[in-house]
Amino acid sequence: MKLGAAAPVIGASVIAFATFVGVGALMGGQGYARADESRDGDEGKELSKIDRQINEHARRTVDQGRQIFRFDTFGSEAFFGDALQLHKAIAGAKNGGVGPGVSPKTALAVGLKVDADALPENLKGQIKAGKVNLDDPATTLALLKLNAVVGLTGKFDQSGKIQSLGTQCALCHSQVDDSFAPGIGKRLDGWANRDLNIGLILSLAPNLKPFTDLLGVDEATVKKVLTSWGPGRFDAILDKDGKAFRPDGGQAGTLIPPAFGLAGVNLHTWTGFGSVPYWNAYVGVTEMHGSGTFFDMRLSDPDQYPVAAKSGSFNTRGTPDLVTGKLPALHVYQLAIPAPKAPKGSFDVAAAERGKEVFNGRGGCATCHVPPIYTEPGENLHTPAELGIDSFQADRSPTHKYRTAPLAGLWTHQKGGFYHDGRFPNLAAVVDHYDRNFRLGLNAQEKAELIEYLKSL
Ligand code: HEC
Ligand code: HEC
Repeated sequence: MKLGAAAPVIGASVIAFATFVGVGALMGGQGYARADESRDGDEGKELSKIDRQINEHARRTVDQGRQIFRFDTFGSEAFFGDALQLHKAIAGAKNGGVGPGVSPKTALAVGLKVDADALPENLKGQIKAGKVNLDDPATTLALLKLNAVVGLTGKFDQSGKIQSLGTQCALCHSQVDDSFAPGIGKRLDGWANRDLNIGLILSLAPNLKPFTDLLGVDEATVKKVLTSWGPGRFDAILDKDGKAFRPDGGQAGTLIPPAFGLAGVNLHTWTGFGSVPYWNAYVGVTEMHGSGTFFDMRLSDPDQYPVAAKSGSFNTRGTPDLVTGKLPALHVYQLAIPAPKAPKGSFDVAAAERGKEVFNGRGGCATCHVPPIYTEPGENLHTPAELGIDSFQADRSPTHKYRTAPLAGLWTHQKGGFYHDGRFPNLAAVVDHYDRNFRLGLNAQEKAELIEYLKSL
């Protein structure tokens, strides 16, 4: 496929897409289980007016939250496009950018995902027939025009030239089901994208000055840090405390956690920075560099957060505020995403049943990972010493602790390992660690059964 040939198709699809988003939100509402909403299922009583309003509000808020999670850039084009010029690295010199550009093959290889539902049928046919050049950055631009690259939105001028680029929550917190091809399929919101090498992508930016200025280091150092994280990891604290590497020289990024199954969970992030809306403001404003408000005096401490204390990012007042008004719907949407059930056949049912007894009994796991939320109701934090691990990451948090990770849907994020930095490559290593740390004395069979249970959550 040449870009020229695809242009009319794409033009039409952009309009179709915009119509879909606008009308879809309304249609979804009207089509949604009217009968169920006006009646109380159990007793067959009519719902009161106020109860119907609550249901209607909940449904509308979830729809809005979904749109924000998937498509809102919060004005982050000012950072990723205007400042970093990342769109130019994607376009490549041939398309008005710089360097070789990023082909769809390269984009998929660094973990970017393509939303198959955003591709017009004829384009899908052409891809299947091998008629689309997946080695050409122009094709990546065509996909961006279709809004088909999960978590990235290109801004194009009237001549079709890319002008800027913004990012969305879905970039790191969505997967696709690979139903069309590897990396191309239906969106799976909330699933951690453990393929995404965000550091490598950022390191391609033609202008790294925003990072060199903030951190006070040279460009080579910034590139070294960004490329140290590897797939599935990102360091959301670096721009606050400037700690680019662990004391032992290891990378300092943390694994992208899922954004599903969070309802009922008190503190969020690996180290319990705060609630879901706390963290959404933190990320939307200070990491994605959307335009908005973020405030946390804890991060003004010059000893723990020298970079934030100096830059003033602990008290960011971006105007216009494109973030705060979206926090309520974004919050509700994330709480509404259930942790996906483990597929049949992905674990041994009988062994998992016995493993459950170990989890709730001899293993002592359920004292912290309390079912069914699998974290503590209350203050869900523990000291590094209790867990038998080092304090590096905990000490980068105002809490100086680690948050009991909610375990539902664990099977979806086994890539990249377990614990905040992926230090345990698999569940066997996690279980061995607990066996040693808490002197559990589990035998090989108990360990194996416990692992089957963990895979079933
Ligand atoms: C560049 C990748 C990236 C983007 C973009 C991103 N996140 Fe995250 N998210 C992460 C990482 C990494 C963490 C873990 C941070 C930590 O614990 O230090 C995280 C943590 C979270 C958590 C905590 C989950 C838990 O287990 O408690 C939530 C919720 C979340 N992000 C939601 C969002 C939302 C909503 C957006 C958009 C406003 C967003 N994220 C944008 C990478 C990202
Ligand atoms: C003292 C409280 C506590 C106990 C007891 C406990 N855990 Fe944990 N668990 C945690 C904390 C805190 C984390 C997060 C560690 C981190 O962020 O590095 C965690 C993380 C995990 C993870 C990794 C989750 C992920 O997303 O990477 C698994 C799996 C796990 N625990 C399983 C177990 C099992 C199995 C047991 C019983 C043998 C157990 N835990 C006992 C507190 C506990």
